[in-house]
Amino acid sequence: MSNFTAVSDHIKYMERCFEIAEKGRGQVAPNPLVGSVIVENARPGDPPDSYRDGRKKIIGEGYHQKYGEAHAEVNAIASLPENYDFTNCTLYVNLEPCSHYGKTPPCSDLIVSKKFKTVVVCNLDSNPLVAGKGLEKLRNAGIEVISGILEKEGRELNKRFFTFHEKKRPYIILKWAQTKDGFISKLSIPSDKEENWITSPESKILVHKWRAEEQAILVGTNTVLNDNPELTTRLVEGKDPIRIVIDRELKITSSAKVFANKGQCIVYTEKQKSDFDNIRFRTISFGEGFTQRLLTDLHSLNIQSLIIEGGSQTLNSFITKGLWDEARVFVGDKLFDEGVKAPEFDLSSIESQIIGTDKLYWKQNS
Ligand SMILES: NC(=O)c1ccc[n+]([C@@H]2O[C@H](COP(=O)([O-])OP(=O)(O)OC[C@H]3O[C@@H](n4cnc5c(N)ncnc54)[C@H](OP(=O)(O)O)[C@@H]3O)[C@@H](O)[C@H]2O)c1
Repeated sequence: MSNFTAVSDHIKYMERCFEIAEKGRGQVAPNPLVGSVIVENARPGDPPDSYRDGRKKIIGEGYHQKYGEAHAEVNAIASLPENYDFTNCTLYVNLEPCSHYGKTPPCSDLIVSKKFKTVVVCNLDSNPLVAGKGLEKLRNAGIEVISGILEKEGRELNKRFFTFHEKKRPYIILKWAQTKDGFISKLSIPSDKEENWITSPESKILVHKWRAEEQAILVGTNTVLNDNPELTTRLVEGKDPIRIVIDRELKITSSAKVFANKGQCIVYTEKQKSDFDNIRFRTISFGEGFTQRLLTDLHSLNIQSLIIEGGSQTLNSFITKGLWDEARVFVGDKLFDEGVKAPEFDLSSIESQIIGTDKLYWKQNS
């Protein structure tokens, strides 16, 4: 009975870690989303009604707020007075405390120095600099360590981070919109671009929100030449992603809207060209193995997540190699009769939801 109670407590406090970790979304990449709570057990002699939850209560909280700044555990500890006595406390954190000197000193050292009784962790860190070593340090110092609480949910929360370290590539989201008859664009772009537009305003806003959640966005050459997209988050509040363009022969001119404003832009090409303003040129060989080489290069640039927004050739080149993690496909109300065919992707077994006048199909790559 007591074990059962303890596990349900762990779950409750770990869920609180997830909730506060979320506040860092869009600010912490390529670091993970991490939240931490400190729970104090009532001491003998404490008034019986002073502690909720079976004589335990949360006394401190913190989360990782910004890349390069303090980790969640440090912020949770700092939310209490300097000389607080933690000997009767449990620290909950959804990722293994770090054990190395990175942009900040090791959190496991701080936890040991504060003499916590117990540490409860959700996921082990896949970063090879940390993996397992953080927990080992705590155990060696005599702290009771419990790990694996809500492990699956923790991996979902930090799917970008885990994919980046384990697969050595960014987490990849494929996104496109297609007509009811399976086209992503008319054959030639009409002068009134609205005629080529497939989805409702609600979907457009949702896509801008998604862009703000990822570190980078990628499109193919024809998409830039035909649509001249900005690839920003202008309809919502949030950071613009790094814009990435495939342009083997450097057909895209510097007046294209993707190159406008101060945001970072990367062009993958076979040609040699010097960087200028906000634009970086990365020379890469195309042909067989191109998509994998591109992703390995993005990994080396520390890009943890990527939303690929078309067109069809670009999306197909990732789909055929199985190099994707999620697909988000809108099917609008329009019929084009002819046009650029949508990527080869079976939507028949996926459930959809309604966004404005569109159907949104969302699939995880298993
Ligand atoms: N409805 C939507 O969601 C949506 C989204 C985006 C775009 N679009 C539409 O899609 C149309 C363009 O689609 P698209 O399929 O023709 O073109 P695309 O994917 O935008 O660009 C294709 C070109 O990009 C380069 N490229 C892309 N992937 C490559 C790879 N793996 N290896 C080598 N080169 C690669 C190649 O250029 P080179 O031939 O120069 O080497 C290729 O011809 C546009 O008209 C646009 O309106 C629709």
